[in-house]
Amino acid sequence: MSTRIKHTIIATAGLFVAFGLTGCEKEAPKTLTYQADIKSILDQHCVECHKEGAEGTQKSGLLLDTYAATMRGTRFGPVVIPGQSINSTLYRLISGQADPSLRMPHDKAPLPDETINKIKDWIDQGAKEQ
Ligand code: HEC
Repeated sequence: MSTRIKHTIIATAGLFVAFGLTGCEKEAPKTLTYQADIKSILDQHCVECHKEGAEGTQKSGLLLDTYAATMRGTRFGPVVIPGQSINSTLYRLISGQADPSLRMPHDKAPLPDETINKIKDWIDQGAKEQ
């Protein structure tokens, strides 16, 4: 066998390995979790008003500084319904599907679409903690 053919065979085998790996990743998309994907968003955009003593918490009862508190919701009930972003007040408010005066974050620029979609997907995937 000539050296050139041997090299071609080795290169082709390498390609199969590379394709095999990416194929695998596509078959099992990662489930978004509160700890890995959502907490940092809420910490950055929401917690300043939704922690003990802050304005948003005083008015609504909603704390967004832990998973348990986020899932507990306001004094009127849950704002995250696992599996149902469309029925989740938290998603409806950040995506502007409620009264504009209630859009969250309150009195600030809306979140980037990518961030809004991440929260939507997290809720639709079951709003897992980790
Ligand atoms: C600048 C302060 C502020 C920020 C930042 C903020 N909120 Fe709020 N939030 C409020 C206030 C004030 C209320 C109470 C609204 C009312 O009842 O008039 C509220 C209420 C809420 C409610 C309850 C609405 C209801 O059903 O009564 C949700 C859900 C909510 N916020 C989610 C969020 C999320 C998610 C973020 C981050 C993306 C966020 N908020 C950021 C001030 C804020």
